[in-house]
Amino acid sequence: MDKRESSGVEHVSFVYSSTNRLLHWIRAVVITGLAITGFYIASPFLSSGESSDQLIYGEWVSWHVLLGFILISAGILRIFLFFFGKDSRSELSSLKDEFSLKSWILQLKSYFFIGELQKKGLYGPLQFLAYTVIMLLVVLSSLSGLILYVHIYHQGLAGLLYEPMRVVEVWMGGLATVRLIHHITMWGFLIFIPIHVYMVIWSAIRFKHAALDVMFTGYDYHLKKRGDEER
Ligand code: HEM
Repeated sequence: MDKRESSGVEHVSFVYSSTNRLLHWIRAVVITGLAITGFYIASPFLSSGESSDQLIYGEWVSWHVLLGFILISAGILRIFLFFFGKDSRSELSSLKDEFSLKSWILQLKSYFFIGELQKKGLYGPLQFLAYTVIMLLVVLSSLSGLILYVHIYHQGLAGLLYEPMRVVEVWMGGLATVRLIHHITMWGFLIFIPIHVYMVIWSAIRFKHAALDVMFTGYDYHLKKRGDEER
């Protein structure tokens, strides 16, 4: 929920709950770990073909799968909180900007230093679109990851998921395509991460607010005169 209050020369707002902040950092760490282990799985350079070396590959795969399940759980919880969380109202309000041509024009102009950004929700339209695409990428990497998973483990959860995942596998065009899709999602994250970090720092400077700190403290501030700028 948006608890806005004024203090001194700043306009302070509570933006992210502790759960949302925790989920953000969990996903940041886990996606980094998945990209590193995934990179190795795709090209296992430590394995020389000796039988004992094959265990190294298996170990990397088990770490990858463990991190994968943390990503899936964090992803499900984050999607739930987006719709039903205590602080979801300002996020959901971003949908109004997303479907407003005026908001798009205002955001793009403000990025070129023409005027200031005005928006109803938490995110600017381009920012919201980028976060939606990255969430869809998490869903795609999770689904394709689960398909690969049911082909290497067969008991317990993997056994339960086998039949439904086989259906999704066919939709995706077969196992080879699934592997390719899964691999490509990694590049999606590798491209997104540096742009995301750059934009957070750039937006903090351009719009003079706590773009980086907000993910640690939960609070964002705006100079009073610019109460409606980008977060
Ligand atoms: C950020 C998310 C993820 C990234 C960047 C990622 C990356 C990768 C990459 C690059 C590969 C190698 C693909 C190849 O052979 O070319 C791979 C394989 C695999 N991934 Fe992921 N992955 C992610 C999420 C997941 C999830 C959520 C699961 C679900 C448990 C998962 C399970 C697997 C499995 C089972 C394999 C195949 C291992 C094998 O062939 O032995 N991944 N992953």
